[in-house]
Amino acid sequence: MSELIAWQDGSFTRTDEVRVSAQTHSLSYATSVYEGIRSYGGSVFKLAEHLRRLRRSADLFGHAVGHSDEELAAVCHRLLELNGLTDAYLKILVYYDDADVSFMGRGCASRTAVFALPFPSHGPGRRVRLATAEWRRPPAACHPYQAKTSSTYALSYLSYRNKPADADDVLFLSTEDRVCESSGSNVFFVAGDVVVTPTTELALDGITRRTVIDELLPGRTVQERDVHYAELADFDGAFLCGTAIEIAEVEAVDGIRFPGSPLVAEIVHAYGKLVRSS
Ligand SMILES: Cc1ncc(COP(=O)(O)O)c(C=O)c1O
Repeated sequence: MSELIAWQDGSFTRTDEVRVSAQTHSLSYATSVYEGIRSYGGSVFKLAEHLRRLRRSADLFGHAVGHSDEELAAVCHRLLELNGLTDAYLKILVYYDDADVSFMGRGCASRTAVFALPFPSHGPGRRVRLATAEWRRPPAACHPYQAKTSSTYALSYLSYRNKPADADDVLFLSTEDRVCESSGSNVFFVAGDVVVTPTTELALDGITRRTVIDELLPGRTVQERDVHYAELADFDGAFLCGTAIEIAEVEAVDGIRFPGSPLVAEIVHAYGKLVRSS
């Protein structure tokens, strides 16, 4: 039984007492949007950016979030206090209730829940092996990549579930063999001094991705462009980045091993410093 405290539509409650009807619209029709946020030493990292993206995602799905950013920020901080957490993962979930069992969602109201759980940093030195995902990412006209929405994660789940046993995560490709992202993080590649990352056409506009580009690579050339699977063998190194995974060096994709780049270790180090100083 969980002793953790969560928040649902204005009230703090035990996490295991948060109730959602089985007829919840978002459960059947993947209309929830959410944010996964980290705190380090009790300080919530990039909270304003996460709240901004939550609003964007909510707007795309027509959610009327009945709480201001200030209120949600205060809830995040209060949950850390109530749960005695410093290094934590906070999830803000916005979903439609059970007013309509059809996909049309007529009369459904938007609900909000916030959870906090202990989540220590992985720390430096984490290396992952990727395998091409069994499922391809649909073209941009077929999926709302601009939103952080539950519908994205059906393919993450299906592909992760069927990944080879020696892979830590999957790498999604487009239907034309362009690299997109992993199941839950963005991907970067390094060739010499040049850093390359796929555009966000078929990937989430990650807050960590933006942090890496804007704050951790001063004076470096960062190319945001299409990256084809056939190019992977030309790169020296690669890394994944995201709130949950932080920065993790990629050792290999399928049978393609990256020799390694000192730049990756630099970025891991710089990110570790940044999250602790913000
Ligand atoms: C599919 C996907 N891509 C990328 C990311 C990285 O996004 P962020 O850096 O905002 O956590 C996430 C994590 O939320 C994700 O789920």
